[in-house]
Amino acid sequence: MNIVLFGAPGCGKGSQAKLITAKYGIPQISTGDILRSEISKNTELGIIAGKYINNGLLLPDDLVIELVKKTLQQPNCQNGFILDGFPRTLNQAQRLLEFINIDVAILIDVNINEVERRALYRRICPVCGKIYNISNKYIEICECGNKLIQREDDKLEVVRHRIEKYLANSEDIIEFFKERKILATVLSGETPEETFVSVDKILSEL
Ligand code: AP5
Ligand code: MG
Repeated sequence: MNIVLFGAPGCGKGSQAKLITAKYGIPQISTGDILRSEISKNTELGIIAGKYINNGLLLPDDLVIELVKKTLQQPNCQNGFILDGFPRTLNQAQRLLEFINIDVAILIDVNINEVERRALYRRICPVCGKIYNISNKYIEICECGNKLIQREDDKLEVVRHRIEKYLANSEDIIEFFKERKILATVLSGETPEETFVSVDKILSEL
């Protein structure tokens, strides 16, 4: 299964990707996670990426498209993959479908007012990658034993820029997925597990 997860920052793409991987064993390809890992290793790509990510801006299309192309050629992606955070411009979407087939693009529809709140209450484990929402239950330590951190781009002003970028691009991409007859929409539930019931229904019908 070749899957695209699409939606606003904080809609739950990463959370759903992890649930899909756990059930179906196909890898999550998160461009955001790859770029953040490059930033933490201070690589050439990481230095460039940091300037965009920490200001809530999108990286240039060509750079991200090359990164995704290379990643999808890896052996672990040959039996399917979950793209999380790509495509996020119409150009990226068009170019993606030129080099690979996509079975379904799942739009996770969430109230845009909820998105800011989710980003502010998000904590992630820098070691195992688990994602937490601490709005109901405050915790500092991951179940794997490491200290949770807040993402650099989860500061309010950066979150607002990210939302603006999403709103500027999303309609064209959704229209494109519709034309290609690969769009499926799920409403974000109260918890990632609740949303997964709808996501899983779509996947089981493929
Ligand atoms: P990226 O890392 O992809 O960020 P994003 O798209 O803004 O999405 P997020 O990771 O913030 O949210 P998510 O949808 O994964 O939600 P999550 O599951 O964590 O990209 C970061 C940056 O990298 C971009 O701004 C850009 O600079 C650059 N970049 C990346 N890809 C690029 C590309 N293709 N082109 C150019 N530049 C690119 O959930 C969020 C929170 O909500 C968590 O706390 C979670 O626990 C909670 N939550 C999730 N679901 C639910 C639910 N149903 N109910 C309650 N809480 C929930
Ligand atoms: Mg994510």
